[in-house]
Amino acid sequence: MTTGYSAEQLTAAVHDAVRAPSLHNTQPWRFRLRDGGIEVRVDPQRRLPATDPSGWGARIACGAALFNLRLSLAVAGTPATVRLRPYPADPDVVARLVPDVPRRPTPAEQSLYAAIDRRFSNRAPFWPDPVPADARWRLGEAARAEQCWLELLIGTTAVNALGEIARSAHRVLERDPAYVTERSTWIRSEPSPDGVPTAAGGPQSEPQDLLPQRGYGGRNRPPGRDFEPEPLVAVLGSAGNTATDQVVAGQALQRVLLTATDAGLAASMISQPIEVPGAREALRLSLGRFGTPQMVMRIGYGQPGVATPRRSVDEVIDLPVATPSTAGR
Ligand SMILES: Cc1cc2nc3c(=O)[nH]c(=O)nc-3n(C[C@H](O)[C@H](O)[C@H](O)COP(=O)(O)O)c2cc1C
Repeated sequence: MTTGYSAEQLTAAVHDAVRAPSLHNTQPWRFRLRDGGIEVRVDPQRRLPATDPSGWGARIACGAALFNLRLSLAVAGTPATVRLRPYPADPDVVARLVPDVPRRPTPAEQSLYAAIDRRFSNRAPFWPDPVPADARWRLGEAARAEQCWLELLIGTTAVNALGEIARSAHRVLERDPAYVTERSTWIRSEPSPDGVPTAAGGPQSEPQDLLPQRGYGGRNRPPGRDFEPEPLVAVLGSAGNTATDQVVAGQALQRVLLTATDAGLAASMISQPIEVPGAREALRLSLGRFGTPQMVMRIGYGQPGVATPRRSVDEVIDLPVATPSTAGR
């Protein structure tokens, strides 16, 4: 029986965890070993006070990193038992993972794991080819397997209603100078281990666009042309909206994104309608669902692209301080 995870196991799993998505690619996570368990924490240094005052985005990102961590450990034959937010007195710790009984990974775990390095936010227009029914089913199953729901918007009325909510949320945010300034500090035109490279920013928005693209300084496009015909738009939601629900939703988000990648699909996230409370409520009512929307995604067949950079593993790991009995060994 394993007594605990080693520093080598932690390092290998964190290498995969940090491939998770995060708002403006802030990578708001830290990982440490404590008493043989791996702890995932929100990094308070990487909060976005103007864009994410409640910490929702950081908890979604940490939940997504946690999903990668779980997969990585499972594929290495050392799956984890996870406790979410284990210390009420230390709410920044979003999860603690301790070794479960070793076993061989399932084929499903192996294919999702293989998708970790291939996934990236694809903000370029998607091809018109529709997402086939079996892939849609798999995406919904991925959300359900992580105790969340995924609503796939069917028909122009539903998609237009969401577009209207998202565009008005985008306008609300763009009127806030603190939000605009904060975003500009995370746009990168030079190589950088964090932030959003302009090359990944996607084309600039046009007034006729159905969905608002967050402005990451992407390239110009011919004016007056539609962005893409009709993407599949999906809303991920959780049962409630506590901090724990948001960590659960982050895991579900990553499972949905990896499932999409595994099915040969591309995706990008649109979170303006989640960040503006009135828009989020309007979205919830328009879907007629119990629970809380946690992310909007566009999903489809995309053009090739590349993964964005991450900070090195050493920068996000806190190794245990040697106690007197182990020091010097
Ligand atoms: C909570 C959250 C909100 C996000 N919101 C948006 C968004 O509104 N627009 C967007 O283009 N990308 C959004 N993203 C995607 C991030 O910008 C992206 O994950 C990050 O830049 C890293 O790039 P990658 O996904 O290609 O690895 C969001 C990601 C997370 C986790």
